[in-house]
Amino acid sequence: MTEKIKQLVDKVKELLEKASSVAEIGDIRVTFLGKSGEYTGLLRGLKDVAPAERGTIGKLINEGKVRLENMIAEKEAYFRKKEEAKKLASEKIDVTLSKGYLIGSTHPITKVKNEILDTFIGLGFAVKEGPEIETDYYNFQTLGIPADHPARDMQDTFYISENILLRTHTSPMQSRTMLSEKPPIRIVVPGKVYRADDDATHSPIFNQIEGLCVEEGISLAHLKNMLEIFAKSTFTKDTKVRFRPSYFPFTEPSVEVDISCSMCGGKGCRLCKGTGWIEVLGAGIVNPVVLENCGIDSKKYSGFAFGFGIDRIAMLKYGIPDIRLMYENDVNFLKQYK
Ligand code: PHE
Repeated sequence: MTEKIKQLVDKVKELLEKASSVAEIGDIRVTFLGKSGEYTGLLRGLKDVAPAERGTIGKLINEGKVRLENMIAEKEAYFRKKEEAKKLASEKIDVTLSKGYLIGSTHPITKVKNEILDTFIGLGFAVKEGPEIETDYYNFQTLGIPADHPARDMQDTFYISENILLRTHTSPMQSRTMLSEKPPIRIVVPGKVYRADDDATHSPIFNQIEGLCVEEGISLAHLKNMLEIFAKSTFTKDTKVRFRPSYFPFTEPSVEVDISCSMCGGKGCRLCKGTGWIEVLGAGIVNPVVLENCGIDSKKYSGFAFGFGIDRIAMLKYGIPDIRLMYENDVNFLKQYK
């Protein structure tokens, strides 16, 4: 019996040496250790062994079985690893192999922003940027909006701490610039702004462009002329501009600026709700109090300021019905603006 055990173990060893795949090793396992396998048969033969030797022989058979199982498992793991590596190599995708390159396109907001900035650069404005995380002081207080001012309701935002917030408009760059530069000042400030709003025409994050001009003798007439040039170059040559009285704490007088409807040309349609006009921006003459707060002599200098949403202009220009489309970054939407 002892001899038989040794013979079978040697035989399995030899077969394992020759085997070259997981499948072959599986066959060896079944042939020897399966239910009716050759080695398993030894245990059945145990009943013919003299009772006195049964214990010893039984132990030997079990030891041999454990050895065989270990040998088989080891070889099997070796071939499994080898086969997996081979499979991975054969399924490898060559990402450098390309059937032509997909060329990206400028985001509609960036496109419109660049066009508008170009217009203002042509009018002598410098482009400036400012912090998106602002202090309450610059975002509100220097602009004539103290803590209890009702104008704060219109611009509810996200607070980082009691005095630090995500800016609600690009206007804080008005005071930041006037505090650090002397007139003449002509700047445009593009950038992201934030408000606690979310619907088809309001996004919690959107983009504005602020304009500020402080020189001697600046009036509403200069503002209107600049905005007319902006409207005609952004939309069409026949675009008209009109001012309506409005209120902003940092401009006096303040105006709401409408342009003739970009879809119907002023005849009245769905977009302009039949009025022929579309409201696009807020503006006005810089409040003398703001000038003085920033150390600028309001007897000598005056200025105009305006601010508008780039997103809104892009929506009007391209007929985009929902502002949120511009922030989803769906390639199928974006590639239309190539
Ligand atoms: N900051 C104002 C807003 O976001 C717009 C504005 C800018 C109005 C400059 C007047 C002057 O609503």
